[in-house]
Amino acid sequence: MPSVPPPALPESLRESIFLKACRGEPTPVTPVWLMRQAGRYMSEYRDLRSKVSFLQLCKDPALATEVTVHAAEKLGVDAAILFADILLILEPMGLHLEFSKGEGPVIHNPVRETSDVDRIQRFDAMDPLDYVAKAVSSIRAALRPDTPLIGFAGAPFTLACYAIEGSGSRHYEKAKSFMYRDPGAWNALMEKLVDGTAVYLNAQADAGAQALQLFDSWVGNLSPHDYSRFVQPHMRRLIGKLAPGVPVIHFGTDTGSLLELQSDAGGDVIGLDWRVELNAARERLGPSVAVQGNLDPIVLFAPLPEIEQQTKRILDQAAGRPGHIFNLGHGILPNTPVDHVIALVDMVHSYKPSDSAGV
Ligand code: CP3
Repeated sequence: MPSVPPPALPESLRESIFLKACRGEPTPVTPVWLMRQAGRYMSEYRDLRSKVSFLQLCKDPALATEVTVHAAEKLGVDAAILFADILLILEPMGLHLEFSKGEGPVIHNPVRETSDVDRIQRFDAMDPLDYVAKAVSSIRAALRPDTPLIGFAGAPFTLACYAIEGSGSRHYEKAKSFMYRDPGAWNALMEKLVDGTAVYLNAQADAGAQALQLFDSWVGNLSPHDYSRFVQPHMRRLIGKLAPGVPVIHFGTDTGSLLELQSDAGGDVIGLDWRVELNAARERLGPSVAVQGNLDPIVLFAPLPEIEQQTKRILDQAAGRPGHIFNLGHGILPNTPVDHVIALVDMVHSYKPSDSAGV
């Protein structure tokens, strides 16, 4: 692959507080954006969704642009994230994807046998997902010139879990038993996912994304031993294939026991969820990576003083050390009060260190 370095960024983007924090540089205030910032908790999104299906929305660059830009502007966040889904890449790889009402995503022809891996097609050209590249360039053109755009993809483990389970799962018993039963077929599947995801992410960077987030949402289900054997080499290879100069955010949930291994695989920014203390995680990761997180999304259902106290606590823990991007530990949930989300963004922006900073 090795992809060409990204075109030089205009100063308004290069010097944005979000990209500075990704590079570990000091910022006057902590940048904030929120996973799932465009979603069902917003009435404008629900209105649009009453007219078009989720997949139609993802596949229409004009609608994806409207949803992405509206959410970023309404919240006043410091970065926008492409409106799409991690599972879209599975369609051109030959999996029949449906977002069924109330059930979440379903794959009708999951990978179950060793031989099923052979029918997984390579994603080596952007054509079938051209609508994503078009959405990225259209969003870039519509956003404020100083708001960076984050592109994203699912990490290979989380994608493989969906491909094998065929839906969300509690224990991932099908995916994990596949991995133990036939490590050769597992590695072949992961290799196809790595190669396809690198093409997909580099195309997003070329189309106008300033940073790339890898969602390894379900990887926290693995022991450190299994992460090292079955995931880490693939993540390292993937991140190594991404365009140099475009910051990579390496995100997972429930990864308290995996942080060092994840960071060792790569990424400029490591995502933290609320099950770890931010200051302890930073100690473990050391000064060479930035961190993103880590408010529990459920705290947004609490009264404002509780939200404020927990937000301050996280910012106190960050203690003004450069390289922190404020976010939730996972996506905003559908019933979250919008006014609480807006208030949270204001709290981060107006934060002043308290006397107990560092605690
Ligand atoms: O963060 C953003 O705002 C960007 C858009 C985005 C979506 N999904 C939109 C979406 C991103 C980054 C994702 C990632 C994603 N998708 C992940 C990883 C992050 C995570 O949450 O762990 C996963 C596992 C998926 C797969 C997926 N897509 C599931 C399990 C679901 C159903 C869950 C639910 O909330 O219903 C989706 C659907 C989905 N993706 C919605 C949105 C806004 C809701 C769709 C709707 O309108 O009904």
